[in-house]
Amino acid sequence: MFEPRDPPYPELKKTHTMAHTGRPWTDFKPPAAASVWASVEGLGRYYILLAALEIGVFDGLQRTGPARAEDLADELGVSTDHLRSLLDGVVAQGLLDQFRDVYELNDTAKRYLVTDGPASMASLIPVAPGPHENWTRLADTVRNGRPATPIEDDPVAFYVPLVEGTFTTMFRCATRADFKVRYSARPDTRVLDLGAGGAPWSIAILNACPQGSAVVNDLDGVIEVARRKTSEHDVISRCEFRPGDFHSIDIEASSYDIVVLGHVCRTEGEEGARSLIARAFDALRPGGRLLLADYFPDMERKANPHAVIMGTTMMASTERGFTFTHREFSEWLRAAGFRSIRLIEPIGFQQTFVAERPLSSSDQTTQTGD
Ligand SMILES: C[S@@+](CC[C@H](N)C(=O)[O-])C[C@H]1O[C@@H](n2cnc3c(N)ncnc32)[C@H](O)[C@@H]1O
Repeated sequence: MFEPRDPPYPELKKTHTMAHTGRPWTDFKPPAAASVWASVEGLGRYYILLAALEIGVFDGLQRTGPARAEDLADELGVSTDHLRSLLDGVVAQGLLDQFRDVYELNDTAKRYLVTDGPASMASLIPVAPGPHENWTRLADTVRNGRPATPIEDDPVAFYVPLVEGTFTTMFRCATRADFKVRYSARPDTRVLDLGAGGAPWSIAILNACPQGSAVVNDLDGVIEVARRKTSEHDVISRCEFRPGDFHSIDIEASSYDIVVLGHVCRTEGEEGARSLIARAFDALRPGGRLLLADYFPDMERKANPHAVIMGTTMMASTERGFTFTHREFSEWLRAAGFRSIRLIEPIGFQQTFVAERPLSSSDQTTQTGD
């Protein structure tokens, strides 16, 4: 009887065709281990990048231009052999270029990894995965249904560096969103920005609306980042700061043209997210719009690995954090009374629901047909 053998190089078995059966090519074609190695190497890949940022590799190469390992090691004051090994690890990830023994910034590094790159992620990378020690205890978190040290234990310590790190990306997203949302069409737009972080959305909207004003909310301690950023962008005089928990602060009914829920729902669980959507609905004037930005997995939670892994990242480090699918959010928005619901992607990977509070409850009925 035919016994499948386990060949040593499964990934080389490309020549298997109908015409090549039997020895040495058999019908049994095991999968390659590449995807398993990709997971194992994930840890090393991240820490190679982190170390390169910490010792200043990208900013150093920006100063020196293309450089050999020994010259860059002199510039950075580190060990040449260890640096060469680290640089090779960065090159292997496609984050630097190398020709013979000369290393140089490629376009990815110039845009995302130097501190003053146009879309720099340099300060986001250390904090984006959440507290690193929570990853080493992930199995316990799944056993217990709770991380040992959720970020809610000390939100200020976690969120201040996070919102500093995400500001550049979110500000680009919020600025470009005007092409799709046209908030600039109403120069006196009034905004409510819940969990505003560094207030990238408020700043972008106020930049586009010269008579606009914003109520900016975040936790005590984190809201200082919003104060600083709005001051740097010269819109602070048009902002009112309202510190406190977004589930319980006072919010005026039917008063705002735009309410922003920017990357806040995924830490709140279904109940919390739906309650924020309901608060946003009440706060909007009829005809006003909610902008709800987050990472949304597809219906089956597998076609968008970035959003799916963001969900696992939330599970690893927060008390109630999970991502929710496009379908779940659209259903919740509709159930809260929103209509004209659409999804925009102002920049890559940054999706935002835009949903309108109908002008009257009869519009609501007409549009739904209920
Ligand atoms: C991922 S950041 C998003 C910041 C900003 N909206 C953006 O899009 O860049 C989440 C923000 O929500 C704030 N936050 C978390 N829980 C909050 C609460 N209960 N009340 C008010 N703000 C909260 C955090 O401090 C943090 O600034």
